Amino acid sequence: MSADPARAAVHAAVEALCTDTAPDADFVPGSTPIPPSGKVIGAPEKHAMVDAALDGWLTTGRFNSAFEARLAAFVGVRRALTVNSGSSANLVAVSSLFSPLLGAAALRPGDEIITVAAGFPTTVNPILQNGAVPVFVDIQPATYNLDPRHLDAALGPRTRAVVLAHTLGNPFDLAAVTAFCARHNLWLVEDCCDALGARYTLPEHADVWLPRTPTADDPSLWRAGGEVERTRHVGRFGHLATLSFYPAHHITMGEGGAVLIDDPLLARIAESIRDWGRDCWCAPGCDATCGKRFGWQLGDLPAGYDHKYTYSHLGYNLKISDMQAACALAQMDRLEGFIAARRHNFDYLSQRLADCEDALILPRATEGSTPSWFGFPLTLKPEAALDRVEMLRWLDQHRIASRLLFAGNLTRQPYMAGRDYRIAGSLETTDRVMNDTFWIGVWPGLDEAMLDYAADRIRLFLGRDFD
Ligand SMILES: Cc1ncc(COP(=O)(O)O)c(C=O)c1O
Repeated sequence: MSADPARAAVHAAVEALCTDTAPDADFVPGSTPIPPSGKVIGAPEKHAMVDAALDGWLTTGRFNSAFEARLAAFVGVRRALTVNSGSSANLVAVSSLFSPLLGAAALRPGDEIITVAAGFPTTVNPILQNGAVPVFVDIQPATYNLDPRHLDAALGPRTRAVVLAHTLGNPFDLAAVTAFCARHNLWLVEDCCDALGARYTLPEHADVWLPRTPTADDPSLWRAGGEVERTRHVGRFGHLATLSFYPAHHITMGEGGAVLIDDPLLARIAESIRDWGRDCWCAPGCDATCGKRFGWQLGDLPAGYDHKYTYSHLGYNLKISDMQAACALAQMDRLEGFIAARRHNFDYLSQRLADCEDALILPRATEGSTPSWFGFPLTLKPEAALDRVEMLRWLDQHRIASRLLFAGNLTRQPYMAGRDYRIAGSLETTDRVMNDTFWIGVWPGLDEAMLDYAADRIRLFLGRDFD
């Protein structure tokens, strides 16, 4: 707590006002809502946000630096770059691959990027925003991730990258995807927005491939890994990875996200795109970090043109405020507990619904993975002859909120009409997910009484007894 008496008084008032937002100790079955996701914040986050407000710095400052360092250390990457949403993180990550600083390895409009259609739109939108062509591959039932058996068929002469999310916290098959990317010299972006804390272990028989940034002499995007750990956090397998800190996610700052990067050149590019596209990398409030602010000659600008106003990328301003960073920094203390609670809730629901497999496809962790679950997905089997809308209405009546697997089949969304994309093979499972899948919550604000009630209502709808 602060040594400054005025600040200490403010913090005492904050303390008196704060309790954690969840779980709801007064749960009344059928009356208390059971949300699919939510935040757990309390005194630590509010103290930190008040401190950031009292600093009066407002833009990214000391809390942001501390948060970026702590997040990078947690995942095990060299750099975490905060941005104002997970969608912005994807925009920065994918746009970075188009940077002229990457020379011949840079992506160009018209290049193809392999992805899936069963997911969140802003995983795919940056591909379109940069003029590239998404190539959609079908997914597997139960893991809801890309089916790697279809990868070879998706490859074309202009394939340059793979961009995939770890669906609902369940890692995709990183052994297959990294080997495919290494074989064909493709960039890999991992959307970890729903998967902070998930881990994956490369099987003993699988080659370890580590992403590298190509040079003028060596265009390879991967190197054989040697003695590198086989078990790593997701976000440490591809060239760039992304996170979201919207309140539904594993930790929150209200609105926010991050790009995770190991390579210094990619970090510089991503930072430039986040910060207006400028060439300069001064933190807010600093000048001449490079030591030669008036000593550059870049582009067609006159020699000595102020580096602070020299732009090497088509950029944006996607930075966060220090109040947001303060909230997320306090959340880091709770992250391991949050992940454990999500896993516990997932296992609890799995066990409560284990005997419903004749009617429902229960979710399955990808082999070799330790997911960090975002939700509990269920798919109605055709033999159950049940209607999803009826089931979701039934859950709704009992105040159990559900969500679909985001866009279902993205190619069927209104905004995709007339856009340039390619479908490799069929999207049969993706369509099934669009029609028959939904998910319910496993977030730390739910306790066993709530999960019991949710499982019981699902069982009742299927005509089962409570157990
Ligand atoms: C997989 C995935 N990627 C990206 C996003 C976008 O994150 P944000 O809402 O922070 O923009 C989401 C949102 O939930 C998501 O689920």
